[in-house]
Amino acid sequence: MDIIETIKKRKSSRTFNQVALKPADKRDLENFIIENSKGLESEVVNFRIIEKNDADRQMKLDFGMIKGHNTYILGTAKSSIDSRVNYGYLMEKVVLKATEMNLSTCWVGYFDYSYFKEVSIEDGFEIPSIVIIGYSDDRQTYQDKYIRFTINASKRQSWGKMFFNYKLKLPLTPEYIKKYSDSLEMVRLTPSSGNTQPGRVFFDDTANEFHFFKKTISKRYESRGLHDIDMGIVLSHFELTSLQSGLKGRWLKHTKENVSTIDELQYIMSWKWE
Ligand SMILES: Cc1cc2nc3c(=O)[nH]c(=O)nc-3n(C[C@H](O)[C@H](O)[C@H](O)COP(=O)(O)O)c2cc1C
Repeated sequence: MDIIETIKKRKSSRTFNQVALKPADKRDLENFIIENSKGLESEVVNFRIIEKNDADRQMKLDFGMIKGHNTYILGTAKSSIDSRVNYGYLMEKVVLKATEMNLSTCWVGYFDYSYFKEVSIEDGFEIPSIVIIGYSDDRQTYQDKYIRFTINASKRQSWGKMFFNYKLKLPLTPEYIKKYSDSLEMVRLTPSSGNTQPGRVFFDDTANEFHFFKKTISKRYESRGLHDIDMGIVLSHFELTSLQSGLKGRWLKHTKENVSTIDELQYIMSWKWE
């Protein structure tokens, strides 16, 4: 499936129908996870698909916000910004694969860690976020609609707030950045914690590089590392769309001295267009 169509099709589901993953779906997803376990700077995440039967405990996992779920994808990452970014980058590829397979998903950053006793967490590691996966219940609950309404889940920031020229710091337009306009549009459509969209992209037209920065929108999400996950999701959408458009490039991380400081933004990574 076309990655642009898949990105446009994905939206968070909060009403699942309690049916376990079909064996063929589980196997395809597990194979995808194995083939796509190597991420940014070659850091590996081994995601697991975990199935649970204890319906009465579900309530505890997500504080009752999501209904009818029993299957989860999660792994561990170092408690560092870069590792969380990588976790988001790799996991979003799994989410998009699941979307392509007509499975429903919801990223969850607020959950009860004690629900996953089967996952051992080494010192200095954490489960930065999980993804709930399954089949959607067509009868979307009132609560699901209410959550989407309160966080304005279908709305996204405008180009002018997210994408800029690196030297002039002026907004980029799709007409100016023609070849990469789809890549940036798919960045604009990324899901993010509380739909806060912390990603900012600056294009350096001399070096042909896109610099990705994080803007702390919510201190609460930032302190839980969720904005780092949001940034990983941004990188994955950008890369997948660029590669599909035939635009070759690679990720690199500049040293602090080699990137301009921009207001209150934090530098994450750059895409070198080759
Ligand atoms: C890192 C991350 C954490 C999230 N945590 C939660 C959560 O704890 N509970 C929840 O209901 N939704 C959570 N979401 C889903 C967002 O609210 C959702 O992606 C956003 O509102 C945009 O809506 P959409 O995914 O339908 O496009 C999370 C999303 C991300 C990316």
